[in-house]
Amino acid sequence: MAIRILGIETSCDETAAAVVEDGRTLLSNVIASQIDVHAQYGGVFPEVASRIHIEAIHEVVKQALLKAHVTLDDIHAIAVTRGPGLAGSLLVGMNAAKGIALGAGLPLIGVNHLEGHIYAQWLTEHVDELRFPLIVLLVSGGHTELIVMKEHRDYHRLGGTIDDAVGEAFDKVGRLLGLPYPGGPHIEQAAKQGNAEAFNFPRSWLEGTWDFSFSGLKTSVLREIKKRYPDYNAGREPAPRGLPVPDLAASFQAAAIEVLIEKAVQAAEQNDAGQILVAGGVSANKALKQGLIDRAADSATVYSPPLALCTDNAAMIAAAAFQHYEPGIVSQLASDITPTWPLGPLATA
Ligand code: KG4
Ligand code: ZN
Repeated sequence: MAIRILGIETSCDETAAAVVEDGRTLLSNVIASQIDVHAQYGGVFPEVASRIHIEAIHEVVKQALLKAHVTLDDIHAIAVTRGPGLAGSLLVGMNAAKGIALGAGLPLIGVNHLEGHIYAQWLTEHVDELRFPLIVLLVSGGHTELIVMKEHRDYHRLGGTIDDAVGEAFDKVGRLLGLPYPGGPHIEQAAKQGNAEAFNFPRSWLEGTWDFSFSGLKTSVLREIKKRYPDYNAGREPAPRGLPVPDLAASFQAAAIEVLIEKAVQAAEQNDAGQILVAGGVSANKALKQGLIDRAADSATVYSPPLALCTDNAAMIAAAAFQHYEPGIVSQLASDITPTWPLGPLATA
């Protein structure tokens, strides 16, 4: 019998619901994005985010069921993002999920958002090719993690960012360059017209560790801008017309992704992993993906979910929940949100 899970995701600025069968077949995937609203503030405004989640969640869940041509009678469990994420935003999804689970008599499964990003890959046609150990490079607006996945649900964290997440760095630099929020995709676009060698921005290698650092890189971009336009109040006024945005974007992007690529490939080589999975919002970046494919050509195959499943969605939450589902599973109705929840042994689940 196929197991159908209704997933709910509200950890940041997308209100999302989806129905997934057996952790790999997408029956529906509904996302109501708040990006247009937050773009006015140049970043996610947490109080506004939770208010919009409240307004949207009911309809998003309804649409997810409708589009999957199912009712709650056809669902076996409700999955919801417990964390990490914004507390107010997580609360909306958690409470909606608890209400639905309680009302329909279904078990509730709390899911780690990062685990969700990984299991997005299990919704693709390449799922049968995946082998453990698998190196996971998880790159998003909130996280930059290098992980060895030894088995399903078995994660060994090698390292991660010690300051800004790489997506956060893209967003902050985007703001400095006068690009719309979120900066990541706009920087990638601008970089296509630029020269990646125009500026020699620093690469933070943090030798001897698997960690990353991006805040120095961001400061170097700011310093370069200030050299030319000392009075430019970045983020608060339009960028000066003469700012070499494409060159700055291309040089920043090259510095940011070079370190990610190098460490991920070395991690694969040192852990006898023949595959690298790059997941999370920043994995939408084609320069990162192509750079990884080229650099890993002799040692590892690179996988990445399609664009729509890279950024936040609820299908990935339902797919991850399937790994925790078993008949007679005890509902986590008493569980609470976990705004800071590192990926690892599921001690807090
Ligand atoms: O996974 P995600 O949707 O949300 C979090 O869990 O954080 O990731 C969003 C992040 C943002 O920082 C956004 O700028 C970045 O992913 N992003 C990109 C690209 N598309 C999205 N960064 C670089 N290049 C892109 N094409
Ligand atoms: Zn995410």
